Amino acid sequence: MQTRTLGTQGLQVSALGLGCMGMSDFYGHRDDAESTATLHHAVARGITFFDTADMYGPHTNEILVGKALASVRNKVVIATKFGIVRDPGNPGVRGVCGRPDYVHSACEGSLQRLGIEAIDLYYQHRVDPAVPIEETVGAMADLVKAGKVRFLGLSEVSAATLRRACAIHPISAVQSEYSLWTRDPEDGLLQTCRELGVGFVPYSPLGRGFLTGQIKRFEDFELGDYRRNSPRFQGENFQKNLDLVARLQDMAAARSCTPAQLALAWVLGQGGDLAPIPGTKRRERLDENLGALEQLLCPGELQELSGLFPPGIASGTRYPEAMMHMVNR
Ligand SMILES: NC(=O)c1ccc[n+]([C@@H]2O[C@H](COP(=O)([O-])OP(=O)(O)OC[C@H]3O[C@@H](n4cnc5c(N)ncnc54)[C@H](OP(=O)(O)O)[C@@H]3O)[C@@H](O)[C@H]2O)c1
Repeated sequence: MQTRTLGTQGLQVSALGLGCMGMSDFYGHRDDAESTATLHHAVARGITFFDTADMYGPHTNEILVGKALASVRNKVVIATKFGIVRDPGNPGVRGVCGRPDYVHSACEGSLQRLGIEAIDLYYQHRVDPAVPIEETVGAMADLVKAGKVRFLGLSEVSAATLRRACAIHPISAVQSEYSLWTRDPEDGLLQTCRELGVGFVPYSPLGRGFLTGQIKRFEDFELGDYRRNSPRFQGENFQKNLDLVARLQDMAAARSCTPAQLALAWVLGQGGDLAPIPGTKRRERLDENLGALEQLLCPGELQELSGLFPPGIASGTRYPEAMMHMVNR
């Protein structure tokens, strides 16, 4: 397995990680047995980078991941996140909190649910506009000093906020949505990460599944699937985006690979400082996605794909209107 080093403090991870969110939440029914088997299979295939968050479930995803990885704890990097507040009794309602006391209590909760002594990579999930980033990152730095966290990260942060954060403590990784149909980080964030020596972790690199070509009808999403609420999957946007995916399918067929592999190969091709975390709860798809590491794209092919999906080409915003204000802050 190829590896990537995120940030200047030496956090080493497999070039492709595994996003675990969909195993417990957001994308249809749970199958804990297959999810656990997928986590074990990922380790066997050389994946060392696992992504969860306290709000996935909420809470249940950390428990699932911690349990499945317990026997290989010292061989893997477990990343989790705090800051999006969900009440398990009423999970539809979301808040954001970056207060220092909250940072400390959230960390204790995650350590307990994951069953580990220290979190390898701890991200603030969303920046809290009511709390200066210096205070939040200061509290995160205290967790490093206390040995409860090894490396720090920020998710969906703006370039300006990232700069302020780095002045308080080294940030090893920024995690933001990045894929063929979400090119937002190219608007300064990726460049700032490189300037500051911060690694980049693209999430939803398969466009929440859409770029695989396997999603054909809105009606196929289970009731309660998050994508039913996502503008890119709704109304006429769905068909327009499906037409875009057809371009990827044609190019994949010409290369004898799958659209998922091509979409991931494009993200991997954006630089050696990126470690994408595609999500799946199925072993078979994990194997397919790992095949992307063998699809080395030359500069001309990367450019061709970038040209097929220019920034802004996707129809619909990547989050519902009410959630767009929480990103790039
Ligand atoms: N920081 C943040 O705010 C944030 C937000 C979203 C996600 N994340 C993290 O990023 C990870 C990845 O993002 P994501 O899960 O949203 O999106 P993704 O990786 O773009 O896509 C995941 C979806 O694609 C399906 N899929 C995966 N491989 C496939 C294949 N080869 N063929 C067909 N379908 C395939 C999965 O279904 P199956 O599971 O059924 O295979 C799942 O529905 C998450 O797990 C989470 O850890 C972070």
